[in-house]
Amino acid sequence: MMLKNVSSERISTMGESIFTTMSKLAFEKNAVNLGQGFPDFDGYAMIFESAYRAMKEGKNQYAPSPGIKSLRDVISEVNSNHYGIAYNPDTEITITAGATEGLYCVMQAFLNTGDEAILFEPYYDAHYADVILAGGIPKFVTLHKPDFSFTQEELEQSITPKTKLIVLNSPHNPTGKVFSQVELEMIAKIAIKHDLLVVSDEVYEFLTFDAVKHVPIAKLEGMKERCITISSTGKTFGSTGWKIGYVCAAKELTDAIRKVHQWTTFAVNTPAQHAMADAFGTLDTYLPDFRALYQSKRDLLFNALKGTEYKPYLPEGSYFMMIDVPKKFDGDVDAAMRLVSEFGVAVIPPSVFYSKSSEGNTLLRLCFAKKDETLIKGAENLIKAINS
Ligand SMILES: Cc1ncc(COP(=O)(O)O)c(C=O)c1O
Repeated sequence: MMLKNVSSERISTMGESIFTTMSKLAFEKNAVNLGQGFPDFDGYAMIFESAYRAMKEGKNQYAPSPGIKSLRDVISEVNSNHYGIAYNPDTEITITAGATEGLYCVMQAFLNTGDEAILFEPYYDAHYADVILAGGIPKFVTLHKPDFSFTQEELEQSITPKTKLIVLNSPHNPTGKVFSQVELEMIAKIAIKHDLLVVSDEVYEFLTFDAVKHVPIAKLEGMKERCITISSTGKTFGSTGWKIGYVCAAKELTDAIRKVHQWTTFAVNTPAQHAMADAFGTLDTYLPDFRALYQSKRDLLFNALKGTEYKPYLPEGSYFMMIDVPKKFDGDVDAAMRLVSEFGVAVIPPSVFYSKSSEGNTLLRLCFAKKDETLIKGAENLIKAINS
């Protein structure tokens, strides 16, 4: 017997993610992969020993649902030392299975069916999906080329009586933008005026370059009580596969998020939480090398493409870089398909991260969290494509 209409309407428009598609193609074509958004090298080595020690010490059963105390304590210290924001580790910090689970729980906790959520586009695709899965309606504010800026009017115009929250991601995937103090103040002012929540995805908080500094929006006056901040040790310690993320928010908001978290994963990997608690304990000695490594990778890729038709946009943060689609291609999807099949380099066509503007058709996303030899070969193949 065939089952009819077996899947829910909520997921009816969801297909395979672009990352899966491009990574499959990169593998089939044996192409250099500058598409997939994670490092092709190991992160912070100390976490291996630390996780193994935790396992040998018998820390192998369920962790408390909000996360182990030592990890919540050290995240609280990091927030207070780096940003001057005080989160109570017992009531305001929750450890989740990556930022991904955190984002899912947040949208489930705060969106009712028909509530509107503002997304800056290009958006991170999980933000869009999580709003839909929670029954919400995404509304879009475009970050315009060349500096990926927006105006106060554009943001104001997107707000309606149904708006419940604004989703922010800074440093930003895929543009590499770090929202300026003026932009953060603009968002905060509008959030306070319309009594909105701000869901701030800050997974690249420690990856800013040159003199650019990351400022959590929760630090702005009147924002901590309406802000939910999500981050990920996967990005900070270069181990995306360990899936240890965290959500910081005022107690009333955390109470709601924990209600969903308890029925989603309940608790996440215990030895990995111990390893991340140890890693955060050495954050200040780790960060300068971490930043310098990624800055040198950004510069390598940027300099290799500078002066070419790709016209790279210098990222201020994250490990992504946007480039222009050269004239010989018919938009970003055509460029991405031909680059992977004819020229041996996989990139991401970002039009899939836009719902309102067509600016995405003119851009391609590269990831520079790659070994130097991967970046050099990838850039060579990109340049061959325009010269052929
Ligand atoms: C903006 C953004 N948020 C969240 C995530 C997911 O983080 P995690 O791997 O901790 O689930 C990513 C991963 O690429 C990301 O780029």
